Amino acid sequence: MERFLTADDLEKALRQDVSEGLTADPKWLPPKWFYDERGSALFEDITRLEEYYPTRRERAILMERAAEIAAATGAQTLLELGAGSGEKTRLLLDALGGTLREYVPVDVSGDFLAAAAGQIARDYPGLAVRSVVADYEQHLHLLPAGDKTLIAFLGGTLGNMPPAQRAGFLKGIRATMGDDDALLFGADLIKEESRLVRAYDDASGVTADFNRNVLRVINRELDADFVPEAYEHVAVWDSASEWVEMRLRSLTDQVVRIEALDLTVGFSALEEMRTEISSKFRAERLRDELDAAGLTLERCWTDPDEDFALVLARPAG
Ligand SMILES: C[S@@+](CC[C@H](N)C(=O)[O-])C[C@H]1O[C@@H](n2cnc3c(N)ncnc32)[C@H](O)[C@@H]1O
Repeated sequence: MERFLTADDLEKALRQDVSEGLTADPKWLPPKWFYDERGSALFEDITRLEEYYPTRRERAILMERAAEIAAATGAQTLLELGAGSGEKTRLLLDALGGTLREYVPVDVSGDFLAAAAGQIARDYPGLAVRSVVADYEQHLHLLPAGDKTLIAFLGGTLGNMPPAQRAGFLKGIRATMGDDDALLFGADLIKEESRLVRAYDDASGVTADFNRNVLRVINRELDADFVPEAYEHVAVWDSASEWVEMRLRSLTDQVVRIEALDLTVGFSALEEMRTEISSKFRAERLRDELDAAGLTLERCWTDPDEDFALVLARPAG
């Protein structure tokens, strides 16, 4: 396993984000800190919830289209950003069997990545699996690329970036791509509010547990004393920004000490802190955003209910 992020780098980045986010008004934390080993496992639980349609829909599209994607790209390297368990990716690995030489899963959650990539290496003995612990917001230019690379970014994760950051990220991806490379990403589509909100606020409370995990990570890594149960999980649809926002709402007036930062932070009762946005798209917007980054939308496949889209894009000619 290659590491562009050492434990030290991770701690530095966490310190920076926590001191910036918790001293801002309103407070916020970036979503990448949900994902320690427990957070990654909780995300896998979310993907199996009845309310969480995106994973099922994306898998259904991949099942139907993987052969077409393989024929269109002839990929020799599959570079997967935010790979997580790589469970759906197996559909691509199977379809690309004729041409694929190397699979490069990239994730910030190192232990989870090691286990998932190890299992894939065992299940695909002819494939070189080269896992990389990296932050795709910082390390795109360092990631290994081969001839005919297919960059996969599944799970609708692109939607976790606000528009300006997403624009920079897409340009960064474009800058790493050669003429024969392609980008494949999942994007959740706009639909009725009740379904969108339920997907991020399930009845059994798994998403709430996932959301509060960021507080456990800060407690452990920065010697803080958040009481996770003292924050309520909130999911709201922001129709102006077209995203679902996850927040943690303080149930009481409370003070938190983050010892490693020598920082004391007060929360008032009902104060909300943003922990994730999940943008929802229309096809025209996807096309426009890709154009602006120098990419051409080649195909946009959806499931029959048009809940979710899988987009194949190429460098603009
Ligand atoms: C929403 S999950 C999607 C997982 C998987 N691709 C799927 O479709 O089920 C996001 C994944 O991206 C990883 N991740 C989040 N922010 C990251 C970052 N800045 N750099 C690298 N990986 C990141 C998380 O650890 C997690 O595995």
